[in-house]
Amino acid sequence: MNFFRKKSLDELLNSSKKQSLNRVLGAFDLTLLGIGAVIGTGIFVLTGVAAAQHAGPALILSFVIAGLACVFAALCYAEFSSTVPIAGSVYSYSYFTLGEIIAWLIGWDLILEYGLAVSAVAVGWSGYFQNLLGGFGIKLPVALTGAIGTAPGAFFNFPAFAIIFVITWLLSRGIKESARVNNIMVGVKVTVVLIFIAVGVWYVKPANWTPFMPFGFSGVMTGAATIFFAYLGFDAVSTAAEEVKNPKRDLPIGIIASLSICTVLYITVSAILTGIVPYSKLNVAAPVAFAMNFIGQNWFAGLISVGAICGITTVLLVMLYAQIRLFFAMSRDGLIPTVFSKVHPKFKTPYTSTWVTGLACATVASLVPLDTLAHLVNIGTLAAFMLVSISVLVLRKTHPDMKRSFRCPAVPWIPILSVLFCGYLMYSLPSITWKLFTVWLVIGFVVYFLYGRSHSLLAQEQKGVTSTLEV
Ligand code: ALA
Repeated sequence: MNFFRKKSLDELLNSSKKQSLNRVLGAFDLTLLGIGAVIGTGIFVLTGVAAAQHAGPALILSFVIAGLACVFAALCYAEFSSTVPIAGSVYSYSYFTLGEIIAWLIGWDLILEYGLAVSAVAVGWSGYFQNLLGGFGIKLPVALTGAIGTAPGAFFNFPAFAIIFVITWLLSRGIKESARVNNIMVGVKVTVVLIFIAVGVWYVKPANWTPFMPFGFSGVMTGAATIFFAYLGFDAVSTAAEEVKNPKRDLPIGIIASLSICTVLYITVSAILTGIVPYSKLNVAAPVAFAMNFIGQNWFAGLISVGAICGITTVLLVMLYAQIRLFFAMSRDGLIPTVFSKVHPKFKTPYTSTWVTGLACATVASLVPLDTLAHLVNIGTLAAFMLVSISVLVLRKTHPDMKRSFRCPAVPWIPILSVLFCGYLMYSLPSITWKLFTVWLVIGFVVYFLYGRSHSLLAQEQKGVTSTLEV
């Protein structure tokens, strides 16, 4: 049995023709989809902890370093998605370059990025939402406020479950409808971030930026590994490949434009945040809104909370969408059951897969306290980024003449830098994250050997060829 069996490009493109999705998205939709997935919990929640405990005002540097790692990886993603515009993103690319077992492991790994991120982000959404309700004097019964262990008497995070349920419903109706809702909410959250910058800049006290690196350079790196979460999501754009009108042109634009816009916004917000509030005071759940309270702008603080809720909602929408498309691609290849790739005749969406995935994520979000697992999301993503960069190098060697609408500049240096940056960020994550990640990969191997290895379409085809030869 050949675990490293690979798909040819024709096989890859043919598989996308068998079950087709609706091609309705353009470069603008994709850019907004990218921003929708990126700006969320990371900037609205994690910046506070990262500044107070790890990086200090050098949080700005942490954002630059994590941003660079993402830019290098994004250039590799852009080359791939313009060459092989197939749903499933890096999973599909590696099926073609590195072989089935690696593709399976990457797909398995991406479940950490997209699926687990959906659950983690929904818990963050629930926190902000309950805060907002509290502002109107409404309190949920304690039992429904969080998972067991998060508060005495709590056992089910109802708002987290409910928001994923609503988003699943929306996604099951069709991508164009979902993209429309996404575009409106992205508009709201970007406006809120711009308002923060426009108001906050007048209150910056440069004295707050000294000492700049209170925890040394290693603190800056741990800060970068933590806030890396904030950048996560631009790659989700590439999972939409089969619903894009002109994927070879629009995908690279969507990936690079959304990442560039977010990088500029993040660096500016972190500079202003640490310039307004002394870093040691930033260890709060809603640091961006807190900064507005800190300078007496309570009205803007409320506005930022509403923006954060919209912002986090779109992250949920795009991440869940990406997870469903990933399952779609894996199922079409026979590595997971075929029910995950059935397309609804009217809505043209993978209907069953949408509901199964949505309900699974909602259940995890409502029952598991996920804060410690945020690092797990990061390690899964970093591993995927490294593999996509390696795949670009492999493909340049094995298929030098293949038509690439977008070529990553300065090959091999950019892919190599991407591997080094991502590797170093992985190395900066805590050892418990590494242990959990290893356990996850081992479970993945077991599932592959028990199911995927024999059900894989490629395996079936090869068996067919062998038996024909035997006859
Ligand atoms: N980048 C996404 C966020 O920060 C996951 O919420």
